[in-house]
Amino acid sequence: SHRVTLGPLVAAIDQGTSSTRFLVFNSKTAELLSHHQVELKQSFPKEGWVEEDPKEILQSVYECMERTCEKLTQLNIDISNIKAIGVTNQRETTLVWDKETGEPLYNAIVWLDLRTQSTVERLINKTPGRNKNHLKHKTGLPISTYFSAVKLRWLMDNVDEVHQAVVSHRAMFGTVDSWLIWCLTGGKSGGVHCTDVTNASRTMLFNIHTLDWDPELCKYFGIPMEILPRVRSSSEIYGLMKICSSRKSGALSGIPISGCLGDQSAALVGQMCFQDGQAKNTYGTGCFLLRNTGAKPVMSDHGLLTTVAYQLGRDKPACYALEGSVAIAGAVVRWLRDNLGIIGSSEELEKLAASVGTSYGCYFVPAFSGLYAPYWEPSARGIICGLTQFTNKSHVAFAALEAVCFQTREILDAMNQDSGIPLTQLQVDGGMTSNKLLMQLQADILCIPVVKPSMPETTALGAAMAAGAAEGVSVWSLSPEDLSAVTSEKFEPQINPDESEFRYARWKRAVQKSMNWET
Ligand code: G3P
Repeated sequence: SHRVTLGPLVAAIDQGTSSTRFLVFNSKTAELLSHHQVELKQSFPKEGWVEEDPKEILQSVYECMERTCEKLTQLNIDISNIKAIGVTNQRETTLVWDKETGEPLYNAIVWLDLRTQSTVERLINKTPGRNKNHLKHKTGLPISTYFSAVKLRWLMDNVDEVHQAVVSHRAMFGTVDSWLIWCLTGGKSGGVHCTDVTNASRTMLFNIHTLDWDPELCKYFGIPMEILPRVRSSSEIYGLMKICSSRKSGALSGIPISGCLGDQSAALVGQMCFQDGQAKNTYGTGCFLLRNTGAKPVMSDHGLLTTVAYQLGRDKPACYALEGSVAIAGAVVRWLRDNLGIIGSSEELEKLAASVGTSYGCYFVPAFSGLYAPYWEPSARGIICGLTQFTNKSHVAFAALEAVCFQTREILDAMNQDSGIPLTQLQVDGGMTSNKLLMQLQADILCIPVVKPSMPETTALGAAMAAGAAEGVSVWSLSPEDLSAVTSEKFEPQINPDESEFRYARWKRAVQKSMNWET
């Protein structure tokens, strides 16, 4: 068999909330050559708590790398063609480890976790005028359970090992990107402790104007700055892969890790939304609509976040985005599968919902982690309402899909109000976009077309682009124009807008019922 000759290849590690992937792209065509995906375990040790095992996360990365390398070898593609690796990740998820032993000191506290709800309420109550936006001028974020600072505070206050490690200067904090890069560049023997501006902008310790950790914010949350990773741009060489040669992925040793972006930023890059006003919505575990606002941060009046979109090189300016974050999208599918058992696999949901084609007046607000944008209400809880004797599991399945669409409608409305220039179509990506019923419903509920690229792995593509374009690598030669020919699928709205408005108004009533659940 002959070796296939290709241009330089670029790989991406995509470490999401529900699964880990490793993907290899051809830098000349952006073609996805090979990939592997592993589903990740989550644990829910108490009501509202969500944790993942840092070692399992790392192990899943190794497994995906090994399996992808095997697949490449079967395709006669030489692994030495991989010139750079990008990292993209679930954001905000918080880890602390010991730099001397390399051991995590607790599970990763996942972004969805609600254990800090009382801390958040206490912090808000202490601010003048009980203002959850008290720190927004610096961070772009409301005080919420969502971001890393409160999770890190919880770890320092409640886990003795973390407290001890902080006191004895052995603790390292990081989001998943930092943990992975540190481990993959050598860990306790010389690993690089860094993060990028996009991930840093989700911690609540980062000043999005100065693009650095903010001493006042650190003081506010009582976080010692020495445990924080160094903040770098999203595209530069952070370090070289250092993998024990006994591992099957050892062949990747020596390759630079040169891209790092939070997954939502990476999707924005992968969708080529480089112009002010361009937007994308990614349907993963949650659902995140980001709109590029160019070189200046725009503060929302309608419950959206201001976040760093990307900084593609040390000497490049940062670009910012407005973001509408929805906590539960794909997670509701997993919940229907694992907690209610009304479907055996995620793929079954579409068929079940399509079998009825309506929720029959049933509304499902999956506020499992409170409500995020535009409400930021940690005390909201999920409800299913409008039930009658007629309602069956198919209607509930349909209502779950509709919930994803209604939540997107709410953040799109907020986005349009903030910018004053309504989006005329919505670019989408992410795992759930393979559900055609969902995509059609989304177009119907938004009353604008929904456009999906034929290559769904835009998050990984964005990370690969950042890695391949980094100074000292410079193998990514594609420009947005080269990719504009990429085929896509378009879903046009098909229902009467009055019908759409009626259902949306009902949804909003259901949302009101889900709020203030505990009072
Ligand atoms: O902010 C959380 C987000 O980054 C998680 O993305 O794709 O795992 O839902 P995803």
